[in-house]
Formats: sequence, C-alpha cells, structure tokens
Amino acid sequence: MKFIPYGKQTIESDDIEAVVETLKSDFLTTGPKVKEFEEAICKYTDAKYCVAVSNGTTALHLASVVLLQPNDKVITTPNSFLATSNSILYVNAKPVFIDIAEDGNIDLDQAIELLKIDNTIKALYGVHFSGNPLNQETLKYIRDNFNIKILEDSAHSLGATFNNIKAGSCEFSDISILSFHPVKNITTGEGGAITTNSKEIYEKLLMLRTHGMLKTTDMKPWEYQMIDLGFNYRITDIQCALGISQIKKLDSFLEKRRNIALKYNLAFKNTVIKPLYEFNPESAYHLYVVLVDFNKLSISKEELFTQMRKRNVGLQLHYIPINQQPYYKTLGFGNEITPNMDIFYKQAFSLPVYPLLTEDEQIYVINNLLELLK
Ligand SMILES: Cc1ncc(COP(=O)(O)O)c(C=O)c1O
Repeated sequence: MKFIPYGKQTIESDDIEAVVETLKSDFLTTGPKVKEFEEAICKYTDAKYCVAVSNGTTALHLASVVLLQPNDKVITTPNSFLATSNSILYVNAKPVFIDIAEDGNIDLDQAIELLKIDNTIKALYGVHFSGNPLNQETLKYIRDNFNIKILEDSAHSLGATFNNIKAGSCEFSDISILSFHPVKNITTGEGGAITTNSKEIYEKLLMLRTHGMLKTTDMKPWEYQMIDLGFNYRITDIQCALGISQIKKLDSFLEKRRNIALKYNLAFKNTVIKPLYEFNPESAYHLYVVLVDFNKLSISKEELFTQMRKRNVGLQLHYIPINQQPYYKTLGFGNEITPNMDIFYKQAFSLPVYPLLTEDEQIYVINNLLELLK
C-alpha cells in the first residue's frame, strides 16, 4: 500500500486546463479571475462580500487588523491551527483561551459565562473545527446580547451548514475566513478568503490587501494614495482560476467526504474507537477525528502513530493545544483550566479523509487500526 496521508487535494484535468488558460492570458495577477473567484465564493456561501487573499493566515491577519485594537481581549479556542490565535497576537491584542465542548469546538456556553462577568472582552474568534459548524443559534445569542466582534474561522468548513445557514455566510458574525491549502475542501495551492456582509469592512479589506492604497475614479490613471499601513496579501489569477474550477466541484467533494465519514462510523460501532461526534450530514468533514481512551489499552497513542506510519498510514494530531506551545508559554499562557481540551488532546487523532481516498484504502485504514487497538 502506498502512503496514505490524512488529507490530499483532488486535481483533475479541467482544473489543469483552467490554470493553463490563465497562464496564457493577459493577467497573472490583479486580473478578472480574482473577482470571478470572489463572486463564486459569495454565491456559494451567501455572503455579500468576499476578498480573496494569499492564504488563510493572511486572511486572519487582515481580519484582525480590521476588527481589533491593541490590547483587546479576544476569547478563542486552544483547539485550532496556530494561525487563529497568532492573528490576534499580530495586532498586539490578547487571546483568552477557554475550553472546548465535547465536539471539539470552542465551548460557547463558557464564552457566554465569561462575557457576562468581563465586559472588557472585545471579540470572539471561533473555529468550525473539522468542518462541524459552531451552533449558530448560540452565536446569534452572543451577537444579540454582547457588544463584541465575532470572527468565524471557517478554514475547515467551506460547504458546511448549520440548520441550512452556510459556513462563511457571516449570518451572525462580522467576518469569516477561509483557507484553500491543499488539504482543505477546495484548493488554490496556497490561498484564502475573507467574507463579510459589511460594506465598510469589505472596503477596508480591499485596501489593506494592497498596501493600504486607494485609487478612485476621480484620480488620474497613474495616481494612487496610501491611506493606511497595508500589505501585499494578493492572490494570483492563476490560483483563482484553480479555485473557480474547484468550487464547481465542491458539492461532489463534500459528498465523498461525508460517505467516508459514514463508512468509518459504521466500522467503528461497538469498538474502542469513538467518532468525535455522531454523523452530521451538515459537517464538511475536512477532518475525521476519533477519540480513543488509551488508558484502557496496552498500546499508547504514540505507538499507534508509529505503527500506522510503518504501515503507510499518516495519522494526524488536530491539534496540540495552542496555549501549550513553547512560544505561547513564554507569553504567560499555558495555565488555563481546560479539562475537556486536556482529555481531547490525550484521546483524539485524525484519520485520512479526502475525495480520492479509495474504498480499498478506507478498508486498509480501518482494518489496521482495529488490529492495533484490539
Ligand atoms: C483552522 C485554521 N485556520 C487557519 C488556517 C491557516 O490557513 P493557511 O494554511 O491557508 O494559512 C488553517 C490552516 O491549516 C486552519 O486549519
């Protein structure tokens, strides 16, 4: 069996043709494909505005520049990729790590309790972990009852819905961000996007993406003004051509991911392997995460990873708690009381899930896991 990673892109001949066509066109960057991709994202997510950028991390950075002020306290989750809370630090704001709920998402009830007693908190950064959306009713409650900014990190969840509210729609948030890294639900190689329903935020983001520069119709064609400290976080037309081709296939990709999740769930019924949450047809299943109580077994988690690697299966850890990272510890983080995250970190790991994972590979993963965890 050749190596089976936990995630992988699906690139087909039409994707390649779309990229080649753009390579032959007049614009490799700042051309028509960027706008076309942004419009496709708006159409897919129901958001009013979209700004495509160079990756999910720069999307988070720009979002933080727009939403936060230095020293603002921002409630966030330890169970995410580093970039979510790094973006809070980029703008000299202060992450406040709280615990996760049983499904691996930030515990919004705990966030509410904290918001009730601490009116200096200025924002909430949540992540739809694994593609399983945050409870949108609770998010609405938070938006309606507390005067804070809300960001949804939807890097895992393009295509997911919560009671038909689409991830990325910003129905109850100020900003949502997406990532198009190859393991994500669609890819542009590297790439990201920010969605919002606020025209004011949209216009700021457009400017910040390109050096804080402004060009208006009343200016001469060669004139420009810098009115804020921005960046070059542009995405290319080449990448957007790939994104346009990919987003057309997102629904079929999602169906395959969900079918694999269903198959895993069935295979692990009545075993020591517990899916992180019951099958959720609305989850985008960017990750398929399971929990195993290794205390009850003779094999450790580390040994399981090693053995599976020897058998050419790449299990993954999503995630090492961000607040426990060495850099975060130098900033004084790491002593937060997060019992659910602690248990999760001991028990959780991710199995391969991506549209091109074959039935044989799925069976191979299942059989080897069950054999090692007997
Ligand atoms: C939850 C989350 N947010 C943000 C990012 C950053 O995205 P990118 O890798 O495109 O910079 C990632 C990427 O892995 C992620 O998983």
